Amino acid sequence: MFYPADLIETIRMSNDIYDVVSEYVKLERKGTKYFGLCPFHSEKTPSFCVTPSKQIFYCFGCGKGGNVIHFIMNIENLDYVEAIKQLAERARIALPDPDDETESKKAHIRKLLQDMNVEAARYYHSILVSQSGFPALEYLKKRGIKKSTITRFGLGYSPNSWDSLYKYLKSKGFNDEELLQSGLVVKSKNGTIIDMFRNRVIFPIFDVRGKVIAFGGRAIDDSKPKYINSPDTLIYNKRRNLYALNFAKAFCEETLILVEGYMDVISLHQNSVKNVVAALGTALTESQARLINKYAKQVILAYDTDNAGMAAAERAIDILCSSGCAVKVMSLPDGKDPDEYIKNHGNDEFNVLVANALPYIEYKIKRLKEQFDISTTEGRVLFLNQCASVLAGVENSVEREMYIKSLSEEYNISPEAILSEVNKINLNAEQDYAIKQKNVLQSGLNAKNKVYSEKDMTFNEKIKYEERFILALLVKDNKLLDIMKDKIDGDWFTDPSNRNIANELLMLYKTQKQVTVAELLNAMPPEVADDFLTILNKHCLCEDNLKALNEKIKSVAALKVKNRQAEILEILSEPSGMPEDKIQSLKQELKDLVAKLRNIKCIG
Ligand code: CTP
Ligand code: MN
Repeated sequence: MFYPADLIETIRMSNDIYDVVSEYVKLERKGTKYFGLCPFHSEKTPSFCVTPSKQIFYCFGCGKGGNVIHFIMNIENLDYVEAIKQLAERARIALPDPDDETESKKAHIRKLLQDMNVEAARYYHSILVSQSGFPALEYLKKRGIKKSTITRFGLGYSPNSWDSLYKYLKSKGFNDEELLQSGLVVKSKNGTIIDMFRNRVIFPIFDVRGKVIAFGGRAIDDSKPKYINSPDTLIYNKRRNLYALNFAKAFCEETLILVEGYMDVISLHQNSVKNVVAALGTALTESQARLINKYAKQVILAYDTDNAGMAAAERAIDILCSSGCAVKVMSLPDGKDPDEYIKNHGNDEFNVLVANALPYIEYKIKRLKEQFDISTTEGRVLFLNQCASVLAGVENSVEREMYIKSLSEEYNISPEAILSEVNKINLNAEQDYAIKQKNVLQSGLNAKNKVYSEKDMTFNEKIKYEERFILALLVKDNKLLDIMKDKIDGDWFTDPSNRNIANELLMLYKTQKQVTVAELLNAMPPEVADDFLTILNKHCLCEDNLKALNEKIKSVAALKVKNRQAEILEILSEPSGMPEDKIQSLKQELKDLVAKLRNIKCIG
């Protein structure tokens, strides 16, 4: 492909599908999805569906689907490269242009910055474990950080000198202009170049693939500021990365824990809690929320329980929710952060807190309770009004009813009274959307029940379909990949476009430990994306994925055999001029195939 895959993925992730589609289609929220009139075929009731949590769209009516890139290709009638360009521009991401001199210079500098960061990380780490690292090593020891943790996170020490890193990097051949772009050094008032980090414990910041792209530095005494962080550079954007995602990505498919600080991440890791990340010295951003949503089914907030932490948590909850994440909040004892807690109480007790994390609605209600004086009538009215507006945001009616019931019991107010408050706020009338939801479900079911007209399909078409079904299962349920990855490789797939998808899938799984549909779609042209999502949304609705997978694998194997049988019969139907031994060997193969087919049918 023209652009590197990780750049395409960054561009995709930086363009929220809901935002982009909303510029063209009026969308209405229904549960966790949005529906609107399909822009690709004419219809009167909405069957065009956008799923923000998956960052995909699909029309149950006409079968068009894909990620945000396909949407732009389809709606603007652009080719892949043009669509990427438009989305990059929309997200203000610079694209490398091989013909443009400044662009190729930038690419060159990116590479230099990457190398420089690696050199710096090595340098800081070597200082930490050398004699001159003593003050920082003492500090880390005092905070209970083990040697193995220091190694794992590549922690370092920037010595108490004005320019030791600067000199070191100069000796490695980088020039001033290059160095200044890395954010590792700065120009001082009198024009000399000095180190950015001095007398600090150094935390290298990795991208999701584990490359060092920036640093955070913590003071080892009371000097201010407590933390200094690398500025954004050509290779680092603090709003689009998460600290330790490179480690967490293999452990967070179910749950990701979001904490505030570097030290929290490290301390939890040291105590075997590995599904944890932190933002990077700013409040949580929408890009980060999308990143979280990409990797984890649910996120648990474990922010500090001081006022600043709780205020930050409230904002984070809203950002995470609007990105489609399932959010819970952990209750740490007053004033504590996860680092302190796990240090004092250990892993088991921490895991109890994880297990008891409150769904964000309950957390919000609990917080409201703390804010109002509910012993007075006035306080209670205010409290319940606030609760109503929280509950108005709950999409699921059963869930909402449950909360209303428990509030009504606790405060001795009729559930109807609370519900009417909620409905006043919630203009999005429940019934209206229930009807539409039913229609859409119905059209989905009809399509599912529509028999694939097998007799009209060639063997190759059937194999292509079955293979794609397998790929859909694998991306839907990544656990199956673990089971299958040694049995199936790209070459197992006969259809060329399926082979591409399979190779991409296995590659992503190897490097990231999990693969989302939206990312896998990056590698598919629009027609393939349509077909893939049709299979995923309409056909691949099995209850037991592993069983379905095994059946499909058998089915493909059988189809391959039948295909060969048909070929042989075709050849044998006109054997004139064919040497007798060739005919015999084909007949033998035919016999073997029959046996093979019988075997396939017996397996499982
Ligand atoms: N932070 C920052 N600049 C500061 C203070 C904090 O960038 N002056 C960021 C850092 O990323 C830090 C996070 O906010 O990790 C959380 O801050 P805090 O809770 O104060 O830091 P901890 O990581 O918990 O560090 P420590 O336990 O050493 O106080
Ligand atoms: Mn802390």
